[in-house]
Amino acid sequence: MTQTTTDAGGGPGGGAGGGADADRLQAHFDEVIAHDRRIEPRDWMPDAYRKTLVRQIAQHAHSEIIGMQPEGAWITRAPSLRRKAILFAKVQDEAGHGLYLYAAAETLGVDRADLTRRLIEGRQKYSSIFNYPTLSFADVGVIGWLVDGAAICNQVPLCRSSFGPYARAMVRICKEESFHQRQGYELLLTMMRGTEAQRAMVQDAVDRWWWPSLMMFGPPDEASPNSARSMAWKIKRHSNDELRQRFVDMTVPQAEKLGVTLPDPELRWNAERGRYDFGTPDWDELKRVISGDGPCNEERIERRRRAHEDGAWVREAAAAHAAKQAARRDRDRDRDRGHDRDRKHDREAS
Ligand SMILES: [Fe+2]
Ligand SMILES: [Fe+2]
Repeated sequence: MTQTTTDAGGGPGGGAGGGADADRLQAHFDEVIAHDRRIEPRDWMPDAYRKTLVRQIAQHAHSEIIGMQPEGAWITRAPSLRRKAILFAKVQDEAGHGLYLYAAAETLGVDRADLTRRLIEGRQKYSSIFNYPTLSFADVGVIGWLVDGAAICNQVPLCRSSFGPYARAMVRICKEESFHQRQGYELLLTMMRGTEAQRAMVQDAVDRWWWPSLMMFGPPDEASPNSARSMAWKIKRHSNDELRQRFVDMTVPQAEKLGVTLPDPELRWNAERGRYDFGTPDWDELKRVISGDGPCNEERIERRRRAHEDGAWVREAAAAHAAKQAARRDRDRDRDRGHDRDRKHDREAS
């Protein structure tokens, strides 16, 4: 996992070794972080920083890919061609997000195939939210509105993350997430203007997705021991609770405009704080779902495993094609060299 490339200061990646060299590398790293500049893959970085990033980016990439499933399940059942095209585009975007993020993780010296293996074997996690089922087409709208909305709250600050490749990937991802959120909200607005049954479907979906969406920000700050270090490294810019509060403040007026009720009797405006007060999510449920015991964990991983196996022939064909291309390049190069030699020989002979 440790890279052996050298940074601008000439130090090896990974552990700083010992002595003055180690101090100099650490000082350079600290200075980059303190000045809000970016750490790039070739720069020296502490092992723990690299490991934290690999874990976070891989988990994020896995979430994008697993996140294709709950909505993907509705592509064949979309109620109109327009809705099908929108949903198709959205689910494809999520595949793209996964790819950017795996590519960003690979700049840290890990291998995408290995990350996928770790996901399938349950050794790496993905967002708990994707372990809930999508029971009606209203869920597609609510996922866009709440789940992509929460993702935006989480991810906009990551555009300023201290690790360059991650931050740059997030810029593009966030632009697409904002389309996702709007398409979801627009779908819900349309359904809310429809029949009584459609409004009931929307309310039911909101009731099921509200609390899991709040859990997307992770456990409360006092139960999130690694957060402080990630914030000191500027990988993370705000605490879980701060981001959760922002999400609630942003979402409540949207719920009012939509005409749905958020299922939290404690939710009310606090004029003194200038923010909304809200109830406490069921943290035991979050723990259960994260540790594999959510409604759809097995199904999601099983589906991912099957897709990976079904894709083996594509990977083999791509590798065979790449090998052929490389062999052809070598052959052409040898032939060109042979021609050069012949010409030189001819010149010398004449
Ligand atoms: Fe995404
Ligand atoms: Fe999205």
